[in-house]
Amino acid sequence: MGRKIIAYFSAEGSTEKVAKALAKITGADIFSIVPTVPYTASDINWKNPLARCNKEKIGKKDVPVEGRIDGFEDYDTVFLGFPIWYYGAPNVVNTFVKGYDWSGKKIVLFATSGGSDMGKTAQKLEPYLSGDYKIAAQKLIRPSDKADDLKKWVSEII
Ligand SMILES: Cc1cc2nc3c(=O)[nH]c(=O)nc-3n(C[C@H](O)[C@H](O)[C@H](O)COP(=O)(O)O)c2cc1C
Repeated sequence: MGRKIIAYFSAEGSTEKVAKALAKITGADIFSIVPTVPYTASDINWKNPLARCNKEKIGKKDVPVEGRIDGFEDYDTVFLGFPIWYYGAPNVVNTFVKGYDWSGKKIVLFATSGGSDMGKTAQKLEPYLSGDYKIAAQKLIRPSDKADDLKKWVSEII
């Protein structure tokens, strides 16, 4: 079995919990996608039209990421996790994705949300992915999902 890494962005901790559970199940390495300028609570208050999150979304802005994954080319499987923002991946995830060559990668998407499903999340991410990759699976993880549900899902895809 090839090398695996879990790369995730989490603004409020829910996706991080899932990422850590997946790391335990899979034994994969883990990388936290952290914006160079971290989000404050008011930055992600989407109810405020002037909040940073809304400006980034509307302006299709890049959100630079702290650090890089060493030896990214050596991983076969990348679990990519994030909260659903505006029915898709947050801009910081798009920026992260643009920074790597995804040739030969098996990509597994996972997300948490306030209720939305994955919807067109994968299609929306594809313009930012380069190379000959495959999105092998995707799952919206709900708070009601148990560790065993995650284990079962993982066993079906790796
Ligand atoms: C800017 C922003 C936009 C969001 N957009 C959506 C959305 O479109 N659909 C949804 O169900 N939840 C949405 N949410 C809620 C988050 O997806 C949800 O709270 C998620 O579990 C947060 O994950 P985190 O704790 O890892 O940051 C949004 C939250 C924020 C801050």
